[in-house]
Amino acid sequence: MNKAVKQHLIDPEICIRCYTCEMTCPIGAIEHDDNNVVVNADVCNFCMDCIPVCPTGSIDEWRVVTTPYTLEQQYEMDELPEQEEVEAGPADDIDADPIAALLAEAHKGAGGKAKSPRTAAKPAINLYNLGKPAKMTVQGNYRLTDDPDHDVRHIILDPGASPFPVLEGQSVGIIPPGTDADGNAFLPRLYSVSSPRDGERPGYHNISLTVKREEKGLASNYLCDLKQGEIVDVTGPFGATFLMPSTPDAHLLLICTGTGSAPMRAFTMQRQRAQATGGMTMFFGARTPQSLPYFGPLKKIPESVLKQHLVFSRLPDRDKEYVQDRMIAEQDGIAALLQNDKTHIYICGLRGMEEGVELAMTSIAESIGEQWTALRDAMREDGRYHVETY
Ligand code: A2P
Repeated sequence: MNKAVKQHLIDPEICIRCYTCEMTCPIGAIEHDDNNVVVNADVCNFCMDCIPVCPTGSIDEWRVVTTPYTLEQQYEMDELPEQEEVEAGPADDIDADPIAALLAEAHKGAGGKAKSPRTAAKPAINLYNLGKPAKMTVQGNYRLTDDPDHDVRHIILDPGASPFPVLEGQSVGIIPPGTDADGNAFLPRLYSVSSPRDGERPGYHNISLTVKREEKGLASNYLCDLKQGEIVDVTGPFGATFLMPSTPDAHLLLICTGTGSAPMRAFTMQRQRAQATGGMTMFFGARTPQSLPYFGPLKKIPESVLKQHLVFSRLPDRDKEYVQDRMIAEQDGIAALLQNDKTHIYICGLRGMEEGVELAMTSIAESIGEQWTALRDAMREDGRYHVETY
């Protein structure tokens, strides 16, 4: 009898084919064709590096099998197979419940990687997928930027009768209409939700997105051109770690660029609605005030709620400034936050910013005799350090 083994699989119904897992896997165990992204059972060593980077959670699927699914079988899958009945054979060193034991072992490796805050509300995930999207009605599409070459939109979608619970920091998938050159439906593109959990207005349970028009971007042009009343196919919600703590006295340190401000807007609105007392500090980088999404509304938020550092890279009469430059200039305040175990850090925006922020944090931590990587890893383990870059 074959020994029962665990197998790592990817849910083809939920995966949005962003290939981040494939790019992250250090040993080349993940590959894809035009249909699916799959895991080679002969190569995967369960290092779990791919788990925290997956935006949808589709990567976190496991089966206990006596014969692993081949790559060919996985490429053909439209949905994941049910867990087969597996009995522990005499050669297995697995006792009473082999499946539970193997699944527990499989998930152990995720320790030390992205974790949600301990007090975060429980997110709903994967309620709607490509085969069964939520049909949302466009309630509004407003331009947020004055710069003619930089079109960023605030788009409000109403799920109507389809219950679509989201928490601040979660994302949704948008399915552009039409088909690709092979006649296949387009896969969903992921966008962060920029509204709080109970809607743009409390109790309305609609959601908003912050979308930048990208030259030749299929989904971004579709979204930016939407008219009121049009229907949009939406999947998700996705994301179970980039979430807010529920504790009112937590302090949120928000670092973002451009449309990375979407979850920060949601956090800020929710904290205001919940009358949280711990405060927030924001470092927000944009080209100019005219191209900073939500510049007007941000100015109305009192400093006692949100201390703002708006940083501009393309002001005509000033040197280029990035968020990490301002963080260094404000290092004493950040150092104090790093020494406070109620501080939660959220970083969202351009991938390039990550390196600059890491260097700034390293220097700020040194100024108080701390090692940033140790501090960061401890915060991450504690669910207090979150990064989402693209
Ligand atoms: P710039 O493009 O002027 O160099 P947007 O997405 O709306 O363009 O805003 C992104 C902002 O982030 C811009 O001000 C951009 O500056 C800035 N930026 C670009 N690269 C980095 C980086 N490596 N670190 C921090 N900020 C960056």
